[in-house]
Amino acid sequence: MNKMQIKTLEEYREKYAQSVSDPEGFWEDIANEFQWMKKWDKVLEWNFTQPDIKWYQGAKLNITENMLDRHLEARGNKPALIWEPNDPGQQFVSYTYRELYEQVCVFSNALKKQGVEKGDRVCIYMPMVPELAIAVMACARIGAIHSVVFAGFSATSLADRINDAQAKLVITADGLNRGSKQIPLKRVVDEALGNTLCVEKVIVFDCLGWQPHMKEGRDISWSDAIAGQEKKCPPEPMDAEDPLFILYTSGSTGKPKGVVHTCGGYMVYTAYSFQNVYQYEENDVFWCTADIGWITGHSYIVYGPLLSGATTVMFEGIPTYPDAGRFWQVIDKYGVNQFLTAPTAIRSLMAFGDDHVLSYSLDSLKVIGTVGEPINEEAWKWYHTHVGKERCPVVDNWWQTETGGIMISGIGNISPQKPTFAGYPLPGIQPVLLNQEGIEIEGANEEGYLCVKFPWPSILRTTYGDHERCRVTYFSHYDGYYFTGDGAKRDEDGMYRIIGRVDDVINISGHRFGTAEIENAINTNKLVIESAVVGYPHPVKGQSIYAFVVCDREIPSESQDFARGEIIESVVAEIGKIAIPEKIQFVSGLPKTRSGKIMRRILRKIAEGDMKSLGDTSTLLDPFVVDEIVENAL
Ligand code: WTA
Repeated sequence: MNKMQIKTLEEYREKYAQSVSDPEGFWEDIANEFQWMKKWDKVLEWNFTQPDIKWYQGAKLNITENMLDRHLEARGNKPALIWEPNDPGQQFVSYTYRELYEQVCVFSNALKKQGVEKGDRVCIYMPMVPELAIAVMACARIGAIHSVVFAGFSATSLADRINDAQAKLVITADGLNRGSKQIPLKRVVDEALGNTLCVEKVIVFDCLGWQPHMKEGRDISWSDAIAGQEKKCPPEPMDAEDPLFILYTSGSTGKPKGVVHTCGGYMVYTAYSFQNVYQYEENDVFWCTADIGWITGHSYIVYGPLLSGATTVMFEGIPTYPDAGRFWQVIDKYGVNQFLTAPTAIRSLMAFGDDHVLSYSLDSLKVIGTVGEPINEEAWKWYHTHVGKERCPVVDNWWQTETGGIMISGIGNISPQKPTFAGYPLPGIQPVLLNQEGIEIEGANEEGYLCVKFPWPSILRTTYGDHERCRVTYFSHYDGYYFTGDGAKRDEDGMYRIIGRVDDVINISGHRFGTAEIENAINTNKLVIESAVVGYPHPVKGQSIYAFVVCDREIPSESQDFARGEIIESVVAEIGKIAIPEKIQFVSGLPKTRSGKIMRRILRKIAEGDMKSLGDTSTLLDPFVVDEIVENAL
């Protein structure tokens, strides 16, 4: 597979130039490295107006044939997936490619037996156990569309996602381990299913031995579902443009939308980006600490590595359990060669001092990556010095759920590194910076809206059930461009630095939430009339949530903590603990323009504690509310 790997900076430049001058030829060569049941009639057809993007039209494939069957001959006995449990005292589990192939086939047959057919949607709400990865691949093998929902989401969020996708089957577990805690999952599914009509069956994996309530005729245990199933299941022939999965993500308006990725292009791009950015070599061990509930886990725990015949590590636990040395201990335990984590994790571990990281050798590491949010210089340096020992390049991976794979990043030790700069675009990726008017900025060191002007194989194709929403959100801001929602800067060498979101999306610990989504959750509380939410800088999480809340009565100071608790409960019920506001300020009104629009700019400044630059407030409907908010700011 190494034909697709770039090995020098010159080669990068050559390939990049070719990918722009002859994109079809470029992506055809790379696609030829995979196993297709039938090759394409046309490499690419596209327009960004509708949008309508088709890669490898006419081709037939099954992505799991490329992840499993294809490796059996040469890599049958090689570890494919190593699972490290939450509890370091518990035995780890390792699957060879053959074993993983067999388990995926067994579960594919189990899904078929439960009535799942090609094109059906399957919702997966699972702990970080190998069965989650197996479930994902089994769906792909039989052509069912998986929709993984992060196991921290509430019953309401889960129900919304199940309903939106009209999922026929849900795969879950009794509960999950998270550090010293155990968290129920089946109970959440039961609650969610009280608000859905589409789900016919639920498969329940036994993770904690809790023996949850099982609904007759609907629920079946994982072990009963797989009993007697064969270890062979033919891969379903899929069109390159058939949907592979849906993954819900937040935007600046309304409810989360289901980003749709398709089989052929997603396969080509996740493997290509994985092998290049991490310079993966045959016997390397790769570890990405993300959760499979997010895109990073999809692309760089499951699909990218297994497509490449790699050994991928999957971790059930958290970085600080049983202590803040856990990541480093696991790296030494398996001799991890490439490691990928998030800036939030790096910052939280930094706060425990250097002793933990210095207690481990970390000699095996070759490339270390960061993803999901901007990394500040201090965290970058700590990571580079103490984890990478100044020997390993730090690759800062910028991309999005919608892009399917890494777009702008360092490439192993090939491209130059500059702290806080993600780096160069990967071959095939054509980013531009636009100004307010939508004109491309040519010069260096100017900030602009980050857009992409040409399709790449793993660009989203639609938002599930609502193509217009996809068009409006990503393709209507600037004619002919995919709009990322991020602001960025480019230096004189052409390296990109991502500044952060320019829309109403807050990135907390690398997880995206829309301000509207959080406000809607707060507003479900019976005390609340309206609310406005903004992000503000947080030393560990990157950003945190500050909520300004108007209630139906004045909340006396002695009752405020109680009221805050109630509001937090509403957020937990609607979204989950991950979206809890750090600060909740009760206000008598919100700063609004005369047309009723909330002036978030002012609230953002207040949340940042920057009261001096509130700007002109005289045009507001009621300028005095600002004085009151400033006076009582938290
Ligand atoms: C942000 C995660 C700076 C960005 C892969 C983007 C980043 C959003 C980086 C996508 C990075 C992601 N540097 N910012 N290396 N990576 N982001 O969909 O704002 O969960 O738009 O995908 O995270 O988040 P998502």
